[in-house]
Amino acid sequence: MNIGPYVLANNVFVAPMAGVTDRPFRMLCKQLGAGYAVSEMVTSRRDLWDTLKTSRRANHAGEAAPIAVQIAGTDAQMMADAAAYNIARGAQIIDINMGCPAKKVCNKWAGSALMQDETLALQIVEAVVAACAPHGVPVTLKMRTGWAQTHKNALTIACAAESAGVQMVTVHGRTREQGYKGLAEYDTIAAVKAALRIPVVANGDIDSPEKARDVLAYTGADAVMIGRAAQGRPWIFREVAHFIATGTALAPPLVAEVKRLLLDHLLEHYTLYGEFTGVRSARKHIGWYVKTLPGGEAFRARMNLLEDGKAQLRAVEDFFDALGARTDRLAVAASTSIGPDQSGMNNEKNQETALA
Ligand SMILES: Cc1cc2nc3c(=O)[nH]c(=O)nc-3n(C[C@H](O)[C@H](O)[C@H](O)COP(=O)(O)O)c2cc1C
Repeated sequence: MNIGPYVLANNVFVAPMAGVTDRPFRMLCKQLGAGYAVSEMVTSRRDLWDTLKTSRRANHAGEAAPIAVQIAGTDAQMMADAAAYNIARGAQIIDINMGCPAKKVCNKWAGSALMQDETLALQIVEAVVAACAPHGVPVTLKMRTGWAQTHKNALTIACAAESAGVQMVTVHGRTREQGYKGLAEYDTIAAVKAALRIPVVANGDIDSPEKARDVLAYTGADAVMIGRAAQGRPWIFREVAHFIATGTALAPPLVAEVKRLLLDHLLEHYTLYGEFTGVRSARKHIGWYVKTLPGGEAFRARMNLLEDGKAQLRAVEDFFDALGARTDRLAVAASTSIGPDQSGMNNEKNQETALA
């Protein structure tokens, strides 16, 4: 699969998640089989570009190409400027955020709220495409199915965006109004795929190789994008990619491998954020890794009290050594299917925390 001139390793993507898919996590997902990763969103507000948060998000050192940066905002010129700013800092693909339900930019609702104003949405797309074209940088768009159950306009916006020069569209199968509640639906994604010539990516509630296969078959989409199910489980990408390529399941990872992956992840995390902030912001990742493991909840409570990197690394090592003494491999994770109950997939608390 291609985005503009970039040939991707496979069609299993990691979703942009503010506060989660930072550079260390994206690199880990790519290393473990994700064919493509988009950065956490970068604001179009020029006055925030020099903040530590934005400069960390615009740091792609060591990341495998293509470097894709998502931008968010509500003003066409500011979005065009943000695209140029990120291209100057190494972005090879620019993704426009019309998918996020809760981010306020410039005192206006950006992200999926833009879907409510189709004229503005298209102005933004046109301005960003015009800013990227001289650099040969493809523009992609991430959106929801619409802004309300009664106003599902993904198809209209996707068609207009394709005509304006967008080269790939990702659709999360929920409306803005839904937030993360209810179930993702895939009919709108199938309709978008049927109407467009450019690649279409299906997103929402994909949490297993079987679900990825079913969503690809149901929608006809070119790729799947996985967000929350990758939290604490970055090896899901190789599991899904292997299953799609061969129809057979990979064995769950060895406990010893997970220990090594998490310890490496933590070291990269401290390097990006510094030890003080890094130890604190790593707690959510560690919590996700151990969430479904025996003794995971109690460990998380204890680990949350540790304040320095050495103690955090040691605690993780001890936890996985004890687990490894009892079992070689992680248990197979439970999955959902299209249609029936998908409860447990909703993770509004994380979303709120990340976007606060
Ligand atoms: C913590 C969190 C942060 C997110 N941040 C972004 C973001 O910055 N940009 C974006 O387009 N979507 C964002 N999303 C939405 C995801 O990219 C994805 O569309 C959504 O989680 C549905 O996919 P999933 O069911 O596989 O998680 C975020 C989601 C979560 C849970």
